[in-house]
Amino acid sequence: MTPNELRERFLKYFEERDHRVVPSSPVVPIGDPTLLFTNAGMNQFKDLLLGNEVRDYKRAASAQKCIRAGGKHNDLDEVGRDGRHLTFFEMLGNWSFGDYYKRDAIIWAWDFVTNEMKLDPSRLYVSVYKDDDEAHDIWANEVGLSTDRILRLGDVEQGDEENFWSMGPTGPCGPCTEMFFDFHPEEGPCEWVVGFDEHRLVEIWNLVFMEYNRDDEGTYTPLPQKGVDTGMGFDRAAMVLADTDNIFETELFLPIVRTTLELLGESTDQDWPAFFRGERFTNFAVIADHSRAVTFALVDGARFANEGRGSVLRSILRRAVRFGRQIGFEEPFVYRVSQAVVEHFGDIYPELREMGERAAELIRVEEERFFRTIDRGIELFDDVADKLVAAGTAEISGDVVFKLHATFGFPPDLTQVMAEERGLKLDWDGYRTAWAEHQETSKGKDMYADAAGVGDWITVSEGPSSEFVGYDRDSSSAVVRKFRSLKDDGRFEVILDRTPFYAESGGQVGDTGAILGAEFELRVENTQRGGMGCVHTCQLVRGVFDEATAPGPLNTRIDGKRRRLIESNHTATHLLHEALHHVVSEQAFQAGSLVAPDRLRFDFSHSEPVTDQQLQAIEARVNAFVVAGHAVVTHADVDRETAVSEMGATAIFGEKYGDTVRVVQIVDSPSVELCGGTHVANTAEIGVFRITSESGVAAGIRRIEAVSSAGAIEAYNQDRALVQELAALLRTEPKHLIDRTRSLSEERTELERRVDQLSQKLAAQDSGRIADDAEDVDGLKVIAKRIDVQTRDEMLNYADSLREKLGEGVVLLVAAIDDKPALLCLVTDDAFKTRGLKAGDLINQAAMHVGGRGGGRPTLAQAGGTDLAGMSAAVDSFSAIVRAALA
Ligand code: SER
Repeated sequence: MTPNELRERFLKYFEERDHRVVPSSPVVPIGDPTLLFTNAGMNQFKDLLLGNEVRDYKRAASAQKCIRAGGKHNDLDEVGRDGRHLTFFEMLGNWSFGDYYKRDAIIWAWDFVTNEMKLDPSRLYVSVYKDDDEAHDIWANEVGLSTDRILRLGDVEQGDEENFWSMGPTGPCGPCTEMFFDFHPEEGPCEWVVGFDEHRLVEIWNLVFMEYNRDDEGTYTPLPQKGVDTGMGFDRAAMVLADTDNIFETELFLPIVRTTLELLGESTDQDWPAFFRGERFTNFAVIADHSRAVTFALVDGARFANEGRGSVLRSILRRAVRFGRQIGFEEPFVYRVSQAVVEHFGDIYPELREMGERAAELIRVEEERFFRTIDRGIELFDDVADKLVAAGTAEISGDVVFKLHATFGFPPDLTQVMAEERGLKLDWDGYRTAWAEHQETSKGKDMYADAAGVGDWITVSEGPSSEFVGYDRDSSSAVVRKFRSLKDDGRFEVILDRTPFYAESGGQVGDTGAILGAEFELRVENTQRGGMGCVHTCQLVRGVFDEATAPGPLNTRIDGKRRRLIESNHTATHLLHEALHHVVSEQAFQAGSLVAPDRLRFDFSHSEPVTDQQLQAIEARVNAFVVAGHAVVTHADVDRETAVSEMGATAIFGEKYGDTVRVVQIVDSPSVELCGGTHVANTAEIGVFRITSESGVAAGIRRIEAVSSAGAIEAYNQDRALVQELAALLRTEPKHLIDRTRSLSEERTELERRVDQLSQKLAAQDSGRIADDAEDVDGLKVIAKRIDVQTRDEMLNYADSLREKLGEGVVLLVAAIDDKPALLCLVTDDAFKTRGLKAGDLINQAAMHVGGRGGGRPTLAQAGGTDLAGMSAAVDSFSAIVRAALA
């Protein structure tokens, strides 16, 4: 079973048991300030578990992207120490919200693990909470697990939270039962006593029985309804299935590790078991894990920063850079490893394809910064460490830790990793004192920025700055107020007295364009709103830009064509918002938007998917306003009260406005919104509007993506090209495509029926000959034969006719199907009842020759394998296997 198959099988298994399959929520939690990153599948169901929210389902299942770094559940320091811990991982889970409880949860988990994943029951152990007799008895009496495999753990009252799970300091919690897999059964029965042997056991699945809500004061209040929250570590389960004890040695990580090797110019043909137990294991593991974490976090909206979530992200990236520097990377590389992450996971998580490039760019910029100081930092660290080790002192002073952080960009947790490698400790208190003193005296001066080559702001002229003049024109004269150089390669941030450039806000992306002086030309690549005003990020493309040339009059010009497309999408977004209220619900509140030149995206609160019919109605309504050509008018400086109560403006919940607001109104339509963005003058300029997708992004949040104007025309052209290509492929006219497809599919059904008949006939004939060749083993007919078939169904046809012909006997059929060995074992009813032979046992022994395992009923079992060369050995060994089983 491949990792992708595992993910699918899991969701399907629970879907078949009436669970609603819910998409993963982003790793950056929406609207939960108690969480840094999504750390469990249950996060998006917190309110349901607490009973604060009710949905139209009581059972759910998901595969959830999680990050465990920097919060209550923090595995950052463990990555690369063993082959089992990750910061980013996927969690497979099933939930009950006041529906089923311990019994079903345990029985299904056991069934899934032993019958779907086919893990050997003798390699499984479980733990339960100290006094959870109910769970204990279900394992012992209903599953039938012997009690020396069930361990009682934990004692919350004594502060031991083993087997008592909670998401964070507050929130839903309860006792849990965990399943463990034994890596080394050859070492005999595992001593399953207090604490567990990490060399032998790894936890694969946790089943939490949600019973309480823990509040700020640590009080446990029973929940109005009990619930189930389970989490299987997907990556760990894939590891167990791949029969290794190193998570990096699975298909989830190998492609990333191969890319890392390629970037180093090394061969990707490695002896992997040795590689992952070798000297550089930690380096490759840290790079692979951290690249995944950083990429997924950025794609879901996190950003590098000095505090909070952004600083954890920064720390994760810098660790990866440092571990890469150690194995020979001399320039930014994580951003390229990140592209392998996008490549490898993009089909499962499409947001990677959408935002992956942007994430790579953010990583590159951040990496470049750190690469500029990393060597000097390492040098300082090594100097200090050498001296301490020589002097027999064990602690690195707080001042050094602080200097490494503030001047060279080494977060203290990274310094700690480096210190541990040398057997040293950090003086954390000293570090905190140094940091606090720095905050007092520096007045915000960023020492690290200087070291990284970011210059100080240089004031060129005094006076008011950043007046926006771009609502009705694309160019203007201006003067520079301040600028600073970003790097030595001609990049600058510039602040002007006034500007036609719209700085990214309210979802509308920033403008691009040019700033032209007498002696230089700057290309504006992006415009953002910063603390000092509108910041133009520029690349010098001609002349010299410095303190001498910056003063003096300038001309500025935005890329007008791009802005027109943005405006079309922005006004279209307002019409979409209005249509949603009209068609779907007055409660469909805006929860975020993106207005770019080529597309728009609109997130809103709504608990279920918007139907196709509703989408069509929305599109039609927007297009009606477009075709009718409504004027778009703006009212600047309206008193907020008046805007909302008299003009009926839709204020977006959670957005901040000043006392006076700007109102954008589409004349003769219900659309009136508070908005600072730029718009078309008349809806006719939108040309045409088209919805491209509708999806769920988080619990209760839907997303509509759409295009307008040139973007929509492009979409129509793509459709036409697709239809033409299809028609050419099916050798017909576009207008006959449907008839043609229908008749092809009927023909296909008919052909399948005939092939099936033929293969049954063939199997019947052939099996006559096969049956004649039966060998006699202790009075039992035994057949082992390689046959030439293409599918498992054909193989089953052989089995059916052999069963009829044989009377009493056993059969092993072996074939190569899709280039892989396929085995089938048949035991006739008599042979099962009177001789006690079981197809599952026989086939497992034969399958050893092809590196596989199997299972099924006592009278019919199937197995697969990986080694084609072992097929004849499987056939040859069979009569001996049967003889041994009879003995
Ligand atoms: N919330 C539990 C965990 O994360 C079970 O899903 O382990």
